[in-house]
Amino acid sequence: MQFITEQKRTHDCGALRGTHVGDEVVLMGWVNARREHGGSIFVDLRDRGGFTQCRFDKAVSEEIHTFASDLRNEFVVGLRGVVVSRGANINAKIPTGEIEVEVREAVLFNRAEPPPFPVRDEVTANEDLRLKYRFVDLRRSPLQKALITRSKVNQIVRNFLSNNGFLELETPILTKATPEGARDYLVPSRVHPGSFYALPQSPQIFKQLFMVAGFDRYFQICRCFRDEDLRADRQPEFTQIDMEFSFVEPNDVFAVIEGMLKEVFQAVRGVDVPTPFPRMGYPEAMARYGSDKPDLRFGLELKDLAAAVSGGGFSVFNDALAKDGQVKGIRLPGGSLSRKRIDEITEFVKVYGAKGLAHIRVNEDGTWQSPIARFFEAEHQAAIAAALELVPGDQAFIVADKPSVVAASLGALRCKLAKDEGLIDESALNFLWVTEFPAFEFDEDAGRWFSMHHPFTSCLPEDLPLLDTDPGKVRARAYDVVLNGYELGGGSIRIHSNEVQKKVFSLLGLTEEETRHKFGFLLDALAFGTPPHGGIALGMDRLIMLLLGYDNIRDVIAFPKTAKATCLMTEAPSTVDQAQLDEVHIQLKPQAPKD
Ligand code: AMO
Ligand code: AMP
Repeated sequence: MQFITEQKRTHDCGALRGTHVGDEVVLMGWVNARREHGGSIFVDLRDRGGFTQCRFDKAVSEEIHTFASDLRNEFVVGLRGVVVSRGANINAKIPTGEIEVEVREAVLFNRAEPPPFPVRDEVTANEDLRLKYRFVDLRRSPLQKALITRSKVNQIVRNFLSNNGFLELETPILTKATPEGARDYLVPSRVHPGSFYALPQSPQIFKQLFMVAGFDRYFQICRCFRDEDLRADRQPEFTQIDMEFSFVEPNDVFAVIEGMLKEVFQAVRGVDVPTPFPRMGYPEAMARYGSDKPDLRFGLELKDLAAAVSGGGFSVFNDALAKDGQVKGIRLPGGSLSRKRIDEITEFVKVYGAKGLAHIRVNEDGTWQSPIARFFEAEHQAAIAAALELVPGDQAFIVADKPSVVAASLGALRCKLAKDEGLIDESALNFLWVTEFPAFEFDEDAGRWFSMHHPFTSCLPEDLPLLDTDPGKVRARAYDVVLNGYELGGGSIRIHSNEVQKKVFSLLGLTEEETRHKFGFLLDALAFGTPPHGGIALGMDRLIMLLLGYDNIRDVIAFPKTAKATCLMTEAPSTVDQAQLDEVHIQLKPQAPKD
């Protein structure tokens, strides 16, 4: 048997259909599975197009049959054969299920070690093993689908934005710190001993400088680097779809993003996303959902119980209210959580700072089963039930604490209950613009103000005077686009006045000298004719994750990092030799002994 290696592939392994019966084809790929049936060996050949069943038949030749008996999973094979119908054995579950290829010639390009885990959609291998052998893991169809989708989304975004007058421009990777609220990754300079570049947390300042330079409507699909605590939706190195516009209002930004997401969801999911997206102010989002990225696929809203409980006999509630705190609750319609589950969710809310979780179960006769029933007379109970809209058969859960703890704990509990109780319509796509964020947050530990978005965000013109008197009340011209409880993107209209920018830096506790050192070039630029401008950045990785309904960001990134920011495949970060350290003038501190 001979295989002429100059033969070119005629199809990928997902292409053949009933209409190809009788055609001679050449396929190349990996052995996905092998089965013996009497005189035939069936091999599922796989490439990124899909699978094709290939039959190696003794009746064709002994040699071809022997060739196939030596094949093992993940061997790389080329073959020539004829497409035949599977007749009565059609497999309607796979696109190539009508046919098989009767092999006439084949070649073994390469053998493979037995893979560390099977190349199947579902694997039980732990994620560390999958990450170590990422090149094998990436052969599995959920990951193939993720990367193929990424490629598609990249093209759609580029075309959409180019057609809407955006220029695709690049910004430096070796640069100076841009504050987005995380720690910087630093790169030591060889030429300038003791000096460091920072990898960009985003291209924020550079895209603003593009506006100063007159390149209205910029975009970039760019890598950002943030040394921060990682979660299921965060990576140290991630991709943004970054944009900036001149002479712009938030509505202009919203329209572009809505148009772009509409095209992306149409192309990838085949769904028509209704636009414009609804909008909600930050205060309302926090009050009703306890979150600035509310998941609107289900109800379970937070209800304020301050009026209903005041005057009651539960000191925990009374004390919280006396200290400017809140008492809020959520209703679980027809809830039937057991004692054990209630204990579990009580522990769950403690992670968010709640000191307890009061619960109520409304009996069929309207009476309560509740550890707090004894603190409230019938009249108070009726007021609480009315505020929570309780009916017989319902359960309710209540937290009393300072507002930030009430929001965080009940906000998280509402999402957990919805998930655990199956209240989420997984096919729903609930987009939302969240607006009117506070510009600044006071950090008690640091004893100073921080920007909630970033320090280049402008505030509502009517709030400008509050910068001097009551910074906590200043509202930012910032907006986030939220999908199903995830922050998909965020942006703002920027400060374009040198004076206002200086004032904000000083409010954030930067001295004039520090301001000059960190942002001198930006302040210079703002003094040279800066147009009003604004923009936004979407998280590409989160977008792909949500498009595919995945819940782990690592599954949409080709070579991701672990939660400890390591790459298990390359073993980065790793030590370097002394000579390299000497070149960049770095002397390592002795390591503290590990405990
Ligand atoms: P922001 O910091 O809100 O804004 O980031 C924009 C979007 O980027 C995504 N994102 C991340 N994705 C994965 N891993 C991370 N560690 C991570 N951090 C952020 C999120 C987020 O909504 N320069 C501003 C944008 C602007 O003002 O125009 C910025 O970077 O989806
Ligand atoms: P106790 O009287 O301490 O047994 O508390 C009665 C109920 O109130 C228990 O179910 C507690 O979990 C709940 N509880 C305690 N502290 C709080 C709080 N800060 N907010 C809401 N419920 C609480």
